[in-house]
Amino acid sequence: MTRIRCNGAEYRVDRAGDRLLIDVLREDLRLTGTKLGCGTGDCGACTVLLDGRPVNSCLVYAVECAASEVETVERVSRDGAGRVLAEELAEAGAVQCGFCTMGILVMATSLIESNPAPDRAEIETALSGNLCRCTGYLPIVRAVESAARRVAAEREPA
Ligand code: FES
Ligand code: FES
Repeated sequence: MTRIRCNGAEYRVDRAGDRLLIDVLREDLRLTGTKLGCGTGDCGACTVLLDGRPVNSCLVYAVECAASEVETVERVSRDGAGRVLAEELAEAGAVQCGFCTMGILVMATSLIESNPAPDRAEIETALSGNLCRCTGYLPIVRAVESAARRVAAEREPA
């Protein structure tokens, strides 16, 4: 039995040594916002934060997270930059089938938290591992630009 901290709560997980983090999140913790796309680290749909850093949860065994804090889209999108980004993605028409959206939201939130004023090239680089089959990417990039501006304005000292 392994203890895993996720979204501020602690869970006990069976067979964490031979189960992937994404499977534990979706099956045990019922956190189904994290999507399984390729399963090989190529699409970014399964992105979560591990101690604040984005990782592909299809490439991490649950036991590797025992001493860490996992954050999924359910928490990331609740407030702060993640909430603003969710609004901007919807506003920009950057959500079509939505399969890529949760991973993009987690990845782009991490970008804005580490780089409050990313330029277009930095956004494209940050999202280069997040594939979207529907949007052509431009609405996504614009949404991240708008979200970064809004977050910076909200955090500016009065
Ligand atoms: S499902 Fe993990 S990178 Fe595609
Ligand atoms: S909105 Fe469909 S894959 Fe991105």
